[in-house]
Amino acid sequence: MGIARASLILLVFVVVVATSDEVFDKYYQPLWGTDHMNVTDQGKEVQLRIDTSSGSGFKSKREYCSGVFRMQIKISEKITGGVITSFYVRTNGTLQTNVFANDEGHREELVKLGFNPSADFHTYELNWSAKKIVFKVDDKTVRTFNYPTNYKSRPLHVEATVWNVSWAGTVDWSKAPFTSYYRGFYINGTSCK
Ligand SMILES: *[C@@H]1O[C@H](CO)[C@@H](O)[C@H](O)[C@H]1NC(C)=O
Ligand SMILES: *[C@@H]1O[C@H](CO)[C@@H](O)[C@H](O)[C@H]1NC(C)=O
Ligand SMILES: *[C@@H]1O[C@H](CO)[C@@H](O)[C@H](O)[C@H]1NC(C)=O
Ligand SMILES: *[C@@H]1O[C@H](CO)[C@@H](O)[C@H](O)[C@H]1NC(C)=O
Repeated sequence: MGIARASLILLVFVVVVATSDEVFDKYYQPLWGTDHMNVTDQGKEVQLRIDTSSGSGFKSKREYCSGVFRMQIKISEKITGGVITSFYVRTNGTLQTNVFANDEGHREELVKLGFNPSADFHTYELNWSAKKIVFKVDDKTVRTFNYPTNYKSRPLHVEATVWNVSWAGTVDWSKAPFTSYYRGFYINGTSCK
């Protein structure tokens, strides 16, 4: 049924803050679907595209043990289910944090954004420290996750992807490609010792 476009969903934590003018290359490199990715605006914007042949994604060049990870995202303005635009940190093998999607429900710890994420760029920030992760959207904390006291931080990297998954609905491929836009890249991270 109708997908509420304003209900992009945060699976865990994300947030926003001030803008940044860094180029993509400074922190990130392609991860997969390179032929479905464009770097534009003198390297300051990345477009990730999905169609029936592939989605695409990028990842941070380095790994970190803590840090503030921020970017601005505008999702595809075309309405469909099944396509996920995401920004998250992960350790090798394990997804640690959030995903956001064009549809309702399905997962724990969802956060309603309260705006249409396809209308404009919004800032999503993830602040990962030894004790907690804080997600902010447009500088407003939307979620805080406290680690158990014995939590041992592991090396993590940041990924951003556009992909399709059946739990998020059925993709209307007649509208493909779906393109999401990323800019305002910012990382202030600490390497693992
Ligand atoms: C994006 O990349 C594709 C494939 O490399 C290319 O054909 C297309 O012209 C590019 N589009 C823009 C807007 O740069
Ligand atoms: C994680 O995987 C990447 C890519 O294969 C590798 O460069 C990095 O060293 C790995 N990190 C750890 C902690 O295993
Ligand atoms: C990130 O979190 C740490 C630990 O809570 C805090 O000291 C720091 O000020 C936060 N950074 C930003 C940019 O909010
Ligand atoms: C994504 O869509 C493609 C093309 O329809 C399909 O082959 C693939 O199985 C889908 N992937 C997932 C994870 O649903």
